[in-house]
Amino acid sequence: MKNTATRTMIVTTALPYANGNIHLGHILEAIEADIWVNFQKMRGNTCYFIAGSDAHGTPIMIQAEKQGLSPEAFIDKTARVQLTDIQGFGISFDNFHSTHSSENEALVCEIYQRLEKAGAIIRKTIYQAYDPVKNMFLPDRYVKGTCPRCNSLDQYSDNCEVCGATYDASELIDPKSVLSGTTPETRATEHLFFDLPQYADKLKHWLSGPHVAKEIQNKMQEWFDAGLQTWDISRDAPYFGFNIPGEKDKYFYVWLDAPIGYMASFKHFCQEHPEVDFDSFWKEDSPNELYHFIGKDIVYFHTLFWPAVLMASENRLPTEVFTHGFVTINGEKMSKSRGTFITARQYLDTLNPEYLRYYYAAKLNGSIDDIDLNFKDFMQRVNSDLVGKIINIAARTASFIDKFFEHQLAAQLMNKPLWELFTDKQSEIATHYETRDYARVLREVTALADKANEWIAEKKPWQMAKEQGGSEDLKEVATLALNLFRVLIIYLKPVLPQLALSVENFLQIEPLQWSNLNTPLLDHTIKPFTPLMIRIEESQIAEWLQAK
Ligand code: 2FM
Ligand code: ZN
Repeated sequence: MKNTATRTMIVTTALPYANGNIHLGHILEAIEADIWVNFQKMRGNTCYFIAGSDAHGTPIMIQAEKQGLSPEAFIDKTARVQLTDIQGFGISFDNFHSTHSSENEALVCEIYQRLEKAGAIIRKTIYQAYDPVKNMFLPDRYVKGTCPRCNSLDQYSDNCEVCGATYDASELIDPKSVLSGTTPETRATEHLFFDLPQYADKLKHWLSGPHVAKEIQNKMQEWFDAGLQTWDISRDAPYFGFNIPGEKDKYFYVWLDAPIGYMASFKHFCQEHPEVDFDSFWKEDSPNELYHFIGKDIVYFHTLFWPAVLMASENRLPTEVFTHGFVTINGEKMSKSRGTFITARQYLDTLNPEYLRYYYAAKLNGSIDDIDLNFKDFMQRVNSDLVGKIINIAARTASFIDKFFEHQLAAQLMNKPLWELFTDKQSEIATHYETRDYARVLREVTALADKANEWIAEKKPWQMAKEQGGSEDLKEVATLALNLFRVLIIYLKPVLPQLALSVENFLQIEPLQWSNLNTPLLDHTIKPFTPLMIRIEESQIAEWLQAK
């Protein structure tokens, strides 16, 4: 993390494969990154939120074929739906592109040529399963057979899901191609490898810096101890991907071109925003920052392969790779068979996306621990904390401003120390955002909301109204309450941008920035109060679960 006055950065989320549905696991990452981006933007930093879809590889090629579509038509269709689903959660990407793009092809080819020049490409002959009916080499997942340890049927060629054994593909009993049902042959083929071990020392050095969390550093050490292996970056035709220059019927492996897709999406953005300079961003000595949000399942790709490819091609390295855990539902892994595989669309059809943004934020603390979505806890936090405590501050005081004072706020703060108690938290809360400890942000905000509510309860504005009508005192009580509320909304805006928008509209103010914490809103006309957010009903959760 850098601390210069204003910073310029790229933030990315992992590019989802352009097949399958966006589920609540993808959404966790999108929300985690979006909160961080919103915070950076509110602080006045320049931040480009870059994403896209990961369009290549065998599964996408096969799925397109099954649907009778060209891979291009298939990925266009799925990426559009995926983007709509992600954006349903208020995710504010600055650009969403595809790895199957001219920008990516040009960048991948250029980087490959630099890798060749650096002596980082090796040729090796490998022996791989081949389907003589489909006329194609088969990735591991496309060969199934009987487990050599426990004799369970229908197991993958490298591991058994029943007994947990891992084994060599040659040991699998009665192997069959998943695509045609025939027994695969073993055929020799020449592949291109990236010489990862050549970069071991540089990688070790990089990983000892502040670029990944401690827990990831420890994991990486295990990989170094086991010894780095060369990385197979080519695939034989038929394959949906980019042709390798100078090779016949060979394609780049999807995982080589996927992270380069981050660059390509940014390049596409720069083409549409000529004032943003692509090259200066990726120079080795660039002062700008680059952050990747990823799940713990793809750490290897982002902290070994990707930095090594960047090193070898003389590009800048990531400033930091932020890793999160998986989503579990009521304590269990998301699973289609248990009915706990929840798609983004199923959620959006019934519930307000900001509830989930709030709930995930309440659980995210910058670690790689899994995040449990527990329905009871979800309802309770939204209803009691968000609606019951935070929104309630405005709900119980705004009506006096409407009723007695022609929507006009008082000209002074009646209790400056209380206001300062709230605004003095700003640097602490900013640090929690910066370190992605959103759980602590929300704990601080809820504690402040408790204080505001206690103060309102002491002042009893409803009694003041009853006894004295529209007194100056009442005006000042309501004004301070609304100002405390406004501070909390500034703190919450990265998490709840839609709520913040409604509040900006209600208070008749410009989009809230972090710097607004230093000035109260006084002598100002607001709009009549209308409910800003409602509680979740038990029946909505039931409806949501039934919809699956
Ligand atoms: O694991 C995945 O879902 C990959 N599609 C993520 C790619 S991230 C980046 F490298 F493109
Ligand atoms: Zn087994």
